Amino acid sequence: MSKEVVVSGIRSTGYLHLGNYFGAIQNYVKMQDEHNCYFFVADYHSLTTHPDPKDLRQNVYRVVAENVASGLDPEKVALYAQSDIPEIPELYLMLNMLAYKGELEKVPTFKDKVRLQPENVNAGLLTYPVLMAADILIHRAVKVPVGKDQEQHLEMARNFANRFNTRYGADFFPEPQVYRSNQDTVKILSLDGNGKMSKSENVNATIYLSDEDDVIRKKIMKAKTDAGPTEPNAEMPDYIRNLFVLMQVSSAPEVTAKFTADYNNCNIRYGDMKKQLAEDMANFVRPIRERAAELQQDHAAIQRILKDGAEKARASSAATIAEARKMIGINYY
Ligand code: TYM
Repeated sequence: MSKEVVVSGIRSTGYLHLGNYFGAIQNYVKMQDEHNCYFFVADYHSLTTHPDPKDLRQNVYRVVAENVASGLDPEKVALYAQSDIPEIPELYLMLNMLAYKGELEKVPTFKDKVRLQPENVNAGLLTYPVLMAADILIHRAVKVPVGKDQEQHLEMARNFANRFNTRYGADFFPEPQVYRSNQDTVKILSLDGNGKMSKSENVNATIYLSDEDDVIRKKIMKAKTDAGPTEPNAEMPDYIRNLFVLMQVSSAPEVTAKFTADYNNCNIRYGDMKKQLAEDMANFVRPIRERAAELQQDHAAIQRILKDGAEKARASSAATIAEARKMIGINYY
């Protein structure tokens, strides 16, 4: 039986953090043996905010290096830059004809961007979900490992796939579904308790895969806590639960069990818990940081990875586009 096709991408807009790692990359690594995987750096998507051209190469190399340092094996998966696959913008153009202004304007991430950067509400921002659908559908993927913030985009990808199928031929595009292996890590919160951990908001409450041990310690020791529960087995506020989730993924199970029991018995000492978490997280991040820093300097190795990845991704993309052109009627010779 052929392996299921998996696609996912990460924007090259800054340093990767624990949300990216636990919400996405860890799943990529888990899926790489049993699936036919296409993972890419979403550099076209990063252009919505007009990055300095000087920064693009380094940003893309960093995402590649951090993925490989996290355990992604470029021999097993196609790891490529979105902009190396011209079939993606071609499919994006086709899908744009099936995407409506009204539905795109309603997307919460678009509305957020309009609020945050009213001076730069460009068409690329509006059609961001269409480009994302093209990324996924170009390989006719069935599974997409992403964090919670991407769910709505995936629903739109399913809608565009269905619209294409209805208009041009049933079952051409399968409906891509969200994949996740751990329900607890789909939304890692910022350590200040204000929304999700993100690449650009509050850097002091975000732990990056490139953070040194001391920086990690400092950030975790400053994480938001409170006076502690006042009754046994109380429900955890989300910022406390977030610390337990981070502990669950980086500490030994008996350590998490001990602090959970302390919480449930109302004798938790958050200072001790944070100290433990800080050490365990520093130990967790250190090998990834060190491997990524080394690899990022090896430009020849990164370029080889990107070239090989693009070759694999283009083979699959070209087949999809050739079919799609035929179905639409764009085949004149
Ligand atoms: P991006 O670059 O913002 O994030 C990359 C991946 O990390 C996940 N993630 C999180 N998961 C848990 N907790 C968090 N705090 C957290 N922050 C980020 C994201 O859900 C994502 O899986 N639009 C996408 C990139 C993209 C894409 C695609 C993804 C472009 N085309 C096609 C999948 C398929 C984005 O901006 O992700």
